[in-house]
Amino acid sequence: MLIDAHCHLLSSCYDNVEKEIEKAIQGGVKKLIINGFDVESSKEAVELSKKYKEVYAAVGIGPENVDTISDVDISTISNLSLSKKVVAIGEIGLDYYWTKENKDLQIKILKSMLKIAKNRKLPVIVHNREATDDIYSYLKEYNVTGIMHCFSGSVETANRFIKLGFLIGIGGVVTFKNAKKIKDVVKNIPLRAISLETDSPYLTPEPYRGKKNNPDKLPFIVSEIAKLKGITNADVIKQTGTNVRSKFDL
Ligand code: NI
Repeated sequence: MLIDAHCHLLSSCYDNVEKEIEKAIQGGVKKLIINGFDVESSKEAVELSKKYKEVYAAVGIGPENVDTISDVDISTISNLSLSKKVVAIGEIGLDYYWTKENKDLQIKILKSMLKIAKNRKLPVIVHNREATDDIYSYLKEYNVTGIMHCFSGSVETANRFIKLGFLIGIGGVVTFKNAKKIKDVVKNIPLRAISLETDSPYLTPEPYRGKKNNPDKLPFIVSEIAKLKGITNADVIKQTGTNVRSKFDL
């Protein structure tokens, strides 16, 4: 089953979200998880999940949005997480590439999100940029699993997270010519540890790189993974679908 486990089909990213969702469904995507990154986008993800049977929601505060977050916002996310089609806490994480200046605040918000995930017994969808050791220790401390979204680390790092129970999220970057590192990761980790994602509207795969992304571009990611692993597209779609459904209530 073709599943986009991480996208942002939200009105802050597109002029017409409904049209984008319909385009994704027509493109053969059976289920998609729309990830919020702040309170407003999380609310919208929940609303869209009520409207379309193919749409599920992840709610959370991302590392780039921590500066203006209040305690009320944290409890709003906690309340939203009770909604029936919320299947994960995400997108959450740490981003020391974007800025290290608010590192303590990023960690504080991440911990509050992990606490919600643990209490609700929900998996997490994690953004990590240049913060691997910190992320690893908090995920381990809170004993949660989920997806390492837009994975960009080494084979060794991928295996650390797989051991912790995480799927490795593979998106459009794998189709880029110069993306040797992520191609190596895909070759060297088991297919049962991979989930597919587009991160729409970002990271559009080749041959559409540079244009606005839509989950209907997932097949380009599927083909590249199949090519790297020497298997069929159908194998990739089937196993990654099973992987995501074993971790998330879809
Ligand atoms: Ni994202």
